[in-house]
Amino acid sequence: MKFFVDTADTKDIADLAESGMIDGVTTNPSLIAKAGRPFADVIQEICEIVPGPVSAEVVATDYEGMITEGRKLAKIADNVAVKLPLTWDGLKACRTLSGDGTQVNVTLCFSANQALLAAKAGATFISPFIGRLDDINVDGMELIADIRQIYDNYLFDTEILAASIRSANHVKLSALAGADVATMPPGVIKSLANHPLTDKGLEIFLADAQKAGIKV
Ligand code: E4P
Repeated sequence: MKFFVDTADTKDIADLAESGMIDGVTTNPSLIAKAGRPFADVIQEICEIVPGPVSAEVVATDYEGMITEGRKLAKIADNVAVKLPLTWDGLKACRTLSGDGTQVNVTLCFSANQALLAAKAGATFISPFIGRLDDINVDGMELIADIRQIYDNYLFDTEILAASIRSANHVKLSALAGADVATMPPGVIKSLANHPLTDKGLEIFLADAQKAGIKV
């Protein structure tokens, strides 16, 4: 399973990239606004830190505008994946930009039929938003499993990018449901290594080593 980090904070990205666990980055207009820096500068910097796909989202909502913005974003670096919303104009733009050879991440997916359309439009990634479904009492994991089944039935190579992940449990369940990628905030990635029994066990081992005077 690939891990993407869901942030536009270049310091956090650089810290995590050192772990060798990061395969890509996702941003959205809310995360870019939070970074408080010019859009193109942030994306360019992230693309230099992480060689994998870096999602940069258009803000236009019509086909022509999405194509203009998408082509501009794609010029920033070879590893930019243009992020488009799952609307009819977004799907049409996905077909055109994919035809240009640009990676496309179709975002704001909340149903299996939407994911089917994105795959037919040639998307590189489909982003089902698990956390936002959970927020309205809908099982986001069922959506991931449904998309997995549909893509496998028809051998679509669009990658399922589990998004809007809020907890370590979301990551485990997405992996079990067959998501190809999970994008998560830095805190969730770091929390994956945590277990109280690991901490307790290490404490005991170190105390015993000190008592016995063990040196390596
Ligand atoms: C990913 O591409 C999305 O930008 C992100 O996961 C949305 O997460 P949120 O629902 O926690 O804002």
